[in-house]
Amino acid sequence: MSQREQSEQIAAAREVLVELIGSRSRGAQDLLDRWDRWAPDLFAGLVGAYNMDHVVQPLVEVLAASHKARDAELQQRDRERVLNADWFQRPDAIGYVCYTDLFDKNLAGLNNRVDYLKGLGVSYLHLMPILKPRPGANDGGYAVMDYRTLREDLGTMSELKNTAKSLHKAGISLTLDLVLNHVALEHEWAVKAQNGDPKYRDYFYIYPDRHMPDQFEQSLPEVFPDFAPGNFTWDDRLNGWVWTTFNSYQWDVNWSNPNVFCEFADIIGNLANHGVDCLRLDAIAFIWKRLGTNCQNQDEVHSITEALRMFVRILSPSLIFKAEAIVGPSQVGAYLGEGHRSGKVSDMAYHNSLMVQIWSAIASKDARLMELSMSRFQAVPTNTAWGIYLRCHDDIGWAIDDSDAGRLGFSGHDHRMFLADYFTGKFYGSDAKGVDFQTDAVSGERRTSGSAASLAGIEVAQASGDTARLQRAVDRYICAYSMIFGFGGLPLIYMGDEIGLFNDESYVNDQAKAEDNRWLHRPSMNWEVANAAAAGELGHSVSGQIRSRMERLIGTRKRLDALHASVSTQVRSGRGLGVAIFDRKHPAGNLIQLYNLSDGNRYVNTDELGGLHGEVIDQLTGQHIWLNEGIALAPYEVRWLTKA
Ligand code: GLC
Ligand code: GLC
Repeated sequence: MSQREQSEQIAAAREVLVELIGSRSRGAQDLLDRWDRWAPDLFAGLVGAYNMDHVVQPLVEVLAASHKARDAELQQRDRERVLNADWFQRPDAIGYVCYTDLFDKNLAGLNNRVDYLKGLGVSYLHLMPILKPRPGANDGGYAVMDYRTLREDLGTMSELKNTAKSLHKAGISLTLDLVLNHVALEHEWAVKAQNGDPKYRDYFYIYPDRHMPDQFEQSLPEVFPDFAPGNFTWDDRLNGWVWTTFNSYQWDVNWSNPNVFCEFADIIGNLANHGVDCLRLDAIAFIWKRLGTNCQNQDEVHSITEALRMFVRILSPSLIFKAEAIVGPSQVGAYLGEGHRSGKVSDMAYHNSLMVQIWSAIASKDARLMELSMSRFQAVPTNTAWGIYLRCHDDIGWAIDDSDAGRLGFSGHDHRMFLADYFTGKFYGSDAKGVDFQTDAVSGERRTSGSAASLAGIEVAQASGDTARLQRAVDRYICAYSMIFGFGGLPLIYMGDEIGLFNDESYVNDQAKAEDNRWLHRPSMNWEVANAAAAGELGHSVSGQIRSRMERLIGTRKRLDALHASVSTQVRSGRGLGVAIFDRKHPAGNLIQLYNLSDGNRYVNTDELGGLHGEVIDQLTGQHIWLNEGIALAPYEVRWLTKA
């Protein structure tokens, strides 16, 4: 489409919009201003995936209807957010991730815990899947049956809106999952497709026989080879094979159908109007299929995300996107926007590689692979941020790049096997207590489940009764978490990690969970310990220490302008193996962080400190240090240094 044609289309669509909103209110004027600013990018996204004749008119209708349903309070929030667009990038942004039921039963319970979150310093809360899932096994809520209803035991949509309000009052933004690669087979669209409605059959990928599925399978990996082998499921009612990347009850939706795009725009508008501030785009990498590829990271994925993002920027600028794309360094950048889409796609993306590299450096007591792997990352667009995490609700896939490993003289396969052994405690000397998740039939490689504290060795060390060993494990854990707060980007604390919760084996008693050991690291909150730790009553105990040391990290982070996410971190490996150096060259002042990820003493020479010299301050302790002689690090010691 030529520039000129596009401008004409935008102008025509604007007229339709004006007519539909039919108001001259301030909110309507703001909407049109935003339309004028962002419609070209909206159209650029749409053109990348759709025939414009089929998508523009229905989308404008969704936009107008969603706008009319947006209340005055949220419109005011939109205005404030436009002036504070970097809210999620700032050093004072601290994230927390929990299951509502495992945190405190339901939304009412959560409302009583807002002060707890505030006390920890949290400004961003991700509630794990909360929309109505299918009954029985539902992949932890990632098989959604109705996007407009809440899971009954958690509350109602109007309670959600009130929770969002109380969170906002406390300075906390609300994130929910948007599961957009698939729906539950009980979802209305799937039921209509099963009943033979051709409109809804087109919402899915359905094949009459194995011809196409077999062709696709030649280049498709398997996400859950153990309990959901293959990528297609036969369904009698459909009389066909339906695409199911994940579990057989999760049907992939057909994003090449513009109706699907408009349905999701409408769902997003509804969530936005309930006060949601961020949507986590679940499994976003998978939403476009192309024969002969692994059907991940296709260019259309980014066009579609750009279009949805611009739709939201026009409708409700308080809402942002976080991409869950667990993909390699060369692919993940596109989720934040590369080339002409720079900064126009998702606002955040999970930094899966960093997470893997932290665990890998701990296991091997060597940060060289981390340095190599991090050097593969380009700087991210300055209006975006990484979501930084040590643990989440999923397993850890040991995404070690073969060529990176090769450059250090070892094999990627061997290192992945080593990590799986190490973190399940099979490796000599390892205190880690994870379990294997899904084994690749060909390579024998396994992913790992387990809570952060158990993987860091605290559970085993505590059981050993050896206090020195236990202290070491706690130090190791805090060292790893310090990197989460220090890297730059939004740190995401996984629920219970602030008191070091261990693996929880009780899931095996629940039939709907038993076969999926990711539930091992989804424990219930222990409020007795959490409250006592928050009140500072637990002293030097494991939970008491973890909580108070984490609070110090959070407090320090919040006042360091150099941690604003608009600047990227350079990662270097110290000459003493096992030392990672994070170098943040920021106009607000340089920040050099040192992490001893090994259990021996290390020494960092002055020439490794990125130009820092003379008198410096360790921001974590307030200690002044003269750098003439370099700096010694005890096992797992962390220093965040700036000029004095
Ligand atoms: C995401 C979720 C994961 C789920 C999958 C399918 O990756 O994090 O828990 O199994 O999507 O929805
Ligand atoms: C795969 C997917 C990721 C998902 C995970 C669930 O790694 O890429 O999106 O979270 O499986 O275990």
